[in-house]
Amino acid sequence: MGLGFFNGKYIPLDEPVIPIEERGHQFGDGVYEMIRVYKGKPFKLNEHVERLFNSANAINLPLENDKSYFIDLILHTIKVSGLLECTVYLQITRGIATRNHIFPDVPVSISMTVKEITPLDPALYENGVNVIFHEDERWANCYIKSLNLLPNVLARQKANEKGCFEAILYRDEWVTEGSSSNVFIVKNGIVYTTPLSKRILEGVTRGVVIQICKKHDIHSIEKSFTKNQLLDADEVFITNTTGEIIPIVKVDNVKIGPGIPGKVTKRLHRLFIQEIMNEIG
Ligand SMILES: Cc1ncc(COP(=O)(O)O)c(C=O)c1O
Repeated sequence: MGLGFFNGKYIPLDEPVIPIEERGHQFGDGVYEMIRVYKGKPFKLNEHVERLFNSANAINLPLENDKSYFIDLILHTIKVSGLLECTVYLQITRGIATRNHIFPDVPVSISMTVKEITPLDPALYENGVNVIFHEDERWANCYIKSLNLLPNVLARQKANEKGCFEAILYRDEWVTEGSSSNVFIVKNGIVYTTPLSKRILEGVTRGVVIQICKKHDIHSIEKSFTKNQLLDADEVFITNTTGEIIPIVKVDNVKIGPGIPGKVTKRLHRLFIQEIMNEIG
């Protein structure tokens, strides 16, 4: 179940629409967003659109339309889809032009999918998940939500082949983030997450978790930690739009704490769900 959108037209998800000389297709020359919709309403829509504009700006992709255009387009597309529990994937590329590295003077391509979400197995939250460490082999500008996800895909595939849920990336022993998530650790009741820099994506979920900590007097610090510090943590969890807050119980087969989801992680997830209820109603 779902709906597609390409350059102004609503289409079935399986309709072939991308011309062979489309820059997203040929160069990965574009940016994207993934938004979670609860009860027909997108969560933290403004934050996602803001980040979309930051990403577009960072790759010199000029957008003719303003933020309110994209907000209305997303809201309308969700409505047309008729779906209530779903994700919106929105992608903007530098358009359709004869293949040439130099920027063409053509309109951007806007595509979108709205898809019913298959909820993650509740056992993942109850029991936690296993992950692997993987070297962060990405470029220097990971703060841009760019279409170029090959190192992320390769790391995630490696995790999958080892029966693991996610790959935790590191550079020189320092944890950066997951292949499609931000990473948090809890040590002695204090919540730590990697500080913002060009090396990580500013996750919308990450931001919500930090806000929740502030609101509920949970001590949180944006400070880098090493692989060893992560292994020595009392709790570890990852965050992203589709998974919310997912407890990690083993990394490379090494147990985190007692090997079960921690109290702080569970509390943060409960508060996160409350935050969704507050916004969605
Ligand atoms: C590399 C990376 N980091 C972090 C995140 C989490 O971002 P968000 O919470 O906005 O989904 C994602 C999301 O897909 C990601 O791809």
